[in-house]
Amino acid sequence: MIKIEKLRINGARLKTTLEVMARIGATPGGGVHRLALSDQDKQARDLFITWLREIELEVTIDEMGNIFGKRSGNNNDLFPVMSGSHIDSQPMGGRFDGILGVMGAIEVFRTIYENKIETQRPMVIVNWTNEEGSRFAPAMVGSGVWTGKLERDWVYSRADIQGRKLGEELERMGYKGKYPARRWPVHAYYEYHIEQGPELERVGSVIGVPQGIVCLHWYDVYVEGTANQVGPTPMEGRNDALCAAAEMILQVNALPSKMGGNMVATVGEIHNSPNSRNIIPSKVHFTVDIRSWDDNLAVRAWEDLRKDFESIVERRGCQIRIEETWRVDHAPFDEKLVKRILDTAVNLGYSSYHMVSGAGHDASYMSQIAPTAMIFVPSIKGRSHVEVENTEWEDCEAGANVLLHCVLQSASEK
Ligand code: GLV
Ligand code: MN
Ligand code: MN
Repeated sequence: MIKIEKLRINGARLKTTLEVMARIGATPGGGVHRLALSDQDKQARDLFITWLREIELEVTIDEMGNIFGKRSGNNNDLFPVMSGSHIDSQPMGGRFDGILGVMGAIEVFRTIYENKIETQRPMVIVNWTNEEGSRFAPAMVGSGVWTGKLERDWVYSRADIQGRKLGEELERMGYKGKYPARRWPVHAYYEYHIEQGPELERVGSVIGVPQGIVCLHWYDVYVEGTANQVGPTPMEGRNDALCAAAEMILQVNALPSKMGGNMVATVGEIHNSPNSRNIIPSKVHFTVDIRSWDDNLAVRAWEDLRKDFESIVERRGCQIRIEETWRVDHAPFDEKLVKRILDTAVNLGYSSYHMVSGAGHDASYMSQIAPTAMIFVPSIKGRSHVEVENTEWEDCEAGANVLLHCVLQSASEK
């Protein structure tokens, strides 16, 4: 039997697995469009389950559509070690975000299976529902409900732009499972992911080891003005909702430099109505995303922004309604697991780099209920959430090897 230290995942198999998955929802520009609870999401989930069964994992699906594949340990009374990520993607998104963590975990489980390795603890692979939060806001709802941080029925009631509800779509695609989405104790949770930013490339390291994830604050802003014929209506006295929104959007962009500290703020989605070139816009809906390692700074920034928004609509004779859609505090990871990832990278001969994750991940909610950490690999040119998102295959392999050895160490703990 192979010595555990010598064990490595099969990089060629991981590449093929990722390539097969990338065909589901493939876009002309080389990315994927696999929105949460779409037909493409269902197709990828079905294939994922086939692969879980091939390596004799016990598959369960909960009422949030989270998919778990469990492998027994020598002592099934011990809490399991868990790893996974998400299968859904951004609109016209990339081939690696999320899916690398799920397929990387499958590759780890396949390696353990074919080498007939016994572990002390059971091990679980997971695909969390709707991590992206793009079709249905907010993000990370599968892990959010499972960890008890979001309310199931509120999440079911969230609608996409066509008004379709998340709960109904889950049912339509046949993934509203019978098991309650309720957490069980987890000994360690590892999430493997692409970095999605430029740092690893900049410092020339292969393995990124985040100390945690920034906070995420999401808002939905609805501005109402007065529609009218653009020709005869004088410029003076107009209540143009889009002009009000435009001013607000620039305030969002200026917020990080105004507040100081480490923060980013973005308006990524906007809907203008009636959206006709010769009608003054009367209704605008846009989103605000604020992130920082400092939760209080993000809250103070929002309070400041809100005041600016109110004075803008007042000056332009418009109305405003704001929904505070979602808040997740910054998530520090488990120091022991973070150190284990750093040490494992060194032992395997990979360069590593300690950093912070600016992207949100299910690991954020998981860190609130279990020892959690993440493994990052570089994103070429720091591009992500776009079709050209890319990572070198040898880096994908390196990250999966780190995951393999971290999972095995955690699973051998009594
Ligand atoms: C998740 O992809 C996020 O960081 O928004
Ligand atoms: Mn992701
Ligand atoms: Mn993403």
